[in-house]
Amino acid sequence: MRRSPLAAVAMDRRSWLSVGFMVTLLLSGVLSLEPITTAVAIATASALTGYLSYPRFYCGRLVECCEDKPFNSTAFQEALEQKLFGQHLARDIIFRGLSGFMSNENPKKPLTLSLHGWTGIGKNFISKIIAENVYELGMNSKYVHLFVSDLHFPHDNLISLYKDQLQSWIRGNVSNCPRSLFIFDEMDKLHPGLIDTIKPFLDYYEQIDGISYRKAIFIFLSNAGGEVINRVVLDSWKAGKIREDIQLKDLESVLSVALFNNRDSGFWHSSLIDKNLIDFYVPFLPLEYKHVKQCVIAELKQRGVEADEDLASRVAKEMTYFPKESRLFSDKGCKTVTTKVNLYL
Ligand SMILES: *[C@@H]1O[C@H](CO)[C@@H](O)[C@H](O)[C@H]1NC(C)=O
Repeated sequence: MRRSPLAAVAMDRRSWLSVGFMVTLLLSGVLSLEPITTAVAIATASALTGYLSYPRFYCGRLVECCEDKPFNSTAFQEALEQKLFGQHLARDIIFRGLSGFMSNENPKKPLTLSLHGWTGIGKNFISKIIAENVYELGMNSKYVHLFVSDLHFPHDNLISLYKDQLQSWIRGNVSNCPRSLFIFDEMDKLHPGLIDTIKPFLDYYEQIDGISYRKAIFIFLSNAGGEVINRVVLDSWKAGKIREDIQLKDLESVLSVALFNNRDSGFWHSSLIDKNLIDFYVPFLPLEYKHVKQCVIAELKQRGVEADEDLASRVAKEMTYFPKESRLFSDKGCKTVTTKVNLYL
């Protein structure tokens, strides 16, 4: 499925060793007339072979290797602060959750995050920031696996095939690299059979058939709960409260009730909440006009264009907002910002 551009030319450690060995043979063959030079050539080639047998010399330079990027929690925090707007809860929870997990040499279970909220407000985006901070190649890493329910598992009659595939993919990839990231988008549309398939991997097992899943990361994205989150934020705005004062506990109980009662996601949540398999429920708040403007300015900056308040306002004004009376929240969050900016540049 997803393959990094590097993966195509990437060779594993053994292939590099045989390259080194062939160079040795080649050089000693060509130079066999000159014993002294041959000695030099052999020395050079074995140095090369030695070099190639130390992963820390080529990992991250020549090829991407498992766990070759040291986790830098300061850089992660900065990325969250500079790129993600209007999500003070998600930012804090995910920062604490991932930093704690990455600094733990011996976690008791894989990290599992369940991200909830309206579309376009940063769930995919934060997954990308996580990938970029854990892997050298970010979302293009061969250790990152994205599954979209409608795209990868569209046919109900093929569920038993999908189950086998998914199970062997998770097993195969984690045995290649314990620090693998699995992102499941549109979780509320995932078939219960596939949920059952994933569940054992999330649990507190030391290992399953000789493989430990405890260093893996699972992120589940869904719109489920988005409406109640929106309602809480709107009520707090109406009551004249500051958005950043909304706390996780203000959302937790309404969110879990909504998830249990949601026709599509009910099974998913009841089976996981019961067993405490999800480490963090992360609510994403609906975005306001000022956040959309921040997204536009960040987008301009990324393209090397100077921040232009005027342009940012114009783009932000083109968005549609809800609810009808207050027009407070952007319908699509920042989702269409990129295409709208294109029209202006
Ligand atoms: C790893 O996962 C991908 C799907 O992202 C799959 O195509 C591939 O076969 C898996 N690798 C192994 C070794 O199972």
